[in-house]
Amino acid sequence: MAEKTLDDLFLNTLKDIYFAEKQILKTLPKMARAAQSPEGKAAFLKHKDETEGQIERLQQVFEIIGKPARGKTCEAIQGIISEGEEIIEEFKDSVALDAGLISSAQAVEHYEIARYGTLKSWAAQLGYTDAVALFDANLQEELATDQKLTELGEMSANPKGAKKKVA
Ligand SMILES: [Fe+2]
Ligand SMILES: [Fe+2]
Repeated sequence: MAEKTLDDLFLNTLKDIYFAEKQILKTLPKMARAAQSPEGKAAFLKHKDETEGQIERLQQVFEIIGKPARGKTCEAIQGIISEGEEIIEEFKDSVALDAGLISSAQAVEHYEIARYGTLKSWAAQLGYTDAVALFDANLQEELATDQKLTELGEMSANPKGAKKKVA
């Protein structure tokens, strides 16, 4: 059996994030439906559109390396998504629901940021220059989404906002 290389690891990780993005694409509309605030709904829907573009960029990377675009089950993202579903279930109709949705979404973003940071650096090491730019485009969108979620989280965790509901 041939010794495994960084190329193998790169392909493995590319398949992992490809699978993850497809799961995220299915989950974002559910999060938009569950969100109570219009800003939250809008943020999830906007990121759903971005995610479609991210999946296309990943397909371009598969093309660059001459491999078929195929995902590989990512248990990490499945775990993060099922925790989010649990929160929707346990906190529906509560003032804490949006805070919970945002925290789940941030766990997703941080996973993606970790993956894209790594893939971008490996693509550079392996000489896939065009792939570096594609990963960076995805990475920048994840970073911006994470920051937007932080702002929304501060709004929804704002005690004034919570009091309004109680009064
Ligand atoms: Fe993504
Ligand atoms: Fe994302």
